[in-house]
Amino acid sequence: MRIVLLGPPGAGKGTLAELLKENLNIVHISTGDILREEMKNNTPLGQDIKKLVDGGALVPDSIVIKIIENKLTGSYQGGTFGGDNFGKSYLLDGFPRTKAQAQELDKFLTRIHQPIDFALYMEASLPVILQRLTGRRVCKKCGALYHVINKPPQKDGICDVCQGILYQRPDDNEETIKTRMNVYIKNTSPVIEYYAAQNKLKKVNADNDGQYVQGELMKIFHEAGKTDQHKNA
Ligand code: AP5
Repeated sequence: MRIVLLGPPGAGKGTLAELLKENLNIVHISTGDILREEMKNNTPLGQDIKKLVDGGALVPDSIVIKIIENKLTGSYQGGTFGGDNFGKSYLLDGFPRTKAQAQELDKFLTRIHQPIDFALYMEASLPVILQRLTGRRVCKKCGALYHVINKPPQKDGICDVCQGILYQRPDDNEETIKTRMNVYIKNTSPVIEYYAAQNKLKKVNADNDGQYVQGELMKIFHEAGKTDQHKNA
C-alpha cells in the first residue's frame, strides 16, 4: 500500500503513522522529520531551511521533491535517513503539500510504476489543533511523540522509550501555528482537491482520539484490499 497522509498541522499524522508502522509493518516517510534531521545535524541544507521551517513557511518545492524522489529510490544520503530502499509499501506524511509537489510525485511514481493507492485526509478543527500542538513534546533522541495532557510521559520531560530529553518544537508556539495553518489552507487545500478529482481521497474526522482514527483507517484499508482483490479477480 502506498498512502499519502494529508491534514493540517497537529491533525495527528505522525501519531497515526507510528501506530500503523507497528501494526502494518509499513514505512513512515515524513518530510518534516527529514528536514528537522538536516537542521539537527547542521548540514548546509539544514542551515538554509532553518528560518523557513522555524517560522512555519514551506521549504521550496524543488528541495522536498528531490528528497522524496531520492528517498523512494534509495539514494537519499542526507542526515541519518540514508540509503534504504523502501520497496512498495509506505506512508508519506507531510508530502505532497502543494499541487506542484503532488503533480511531480505522480509523474515520478508513474515512471516507476508505483501509483499512490489513496490519500487520507485527516480533518481537524482549530481549537483541537492548538491544544495538541502547544502541548506536544518530542524526544530529542528517538523522536517519540508525547502530549502534556493527552499522552504524558511517565517521568516529566523524559522519554519512556529511550530516556532521552523531551523538547518543544520551535514552530509549536501559538503565533507560528497560526502561520502554519494559513500556509496550509493556501497551499494544501488544492492538494486535497487534486486527490478528490482522481477519486483517491478518503476522509476521517481526526478530532477524535487516536484509537478511533486508527479504527476508521483500518476500515478503509479493508475496503481498499477488497477493491484490489476485485480488480485482480
Ligand atoms: P511537519 O513536521 O510535516 O509538520 P505539520 O504538517 O505541521 O504536522 P505536525 O508534525 O505539526 O503535526 P501532525 O499532524 O504530525 O501531529 P502529531 O501526530 O505530531 O512540517 C514541519 C515544517 O517542515 C513545515 O512547516 C515546513 O516548513 C516543512 N515541510 C515539511 N514538509 C514539507 C513539504 N512537503 N514542502 C515544503 N515544506 C515542508 O500530533 C500532535 C500532538 O497531538 C502530539 O502531541 C500527539 O500526541 C497529539 N495527538 C495526535 N493525535 C491525537 C489524537 N487523535 N487524540 C489526542 N491527541 C493526539
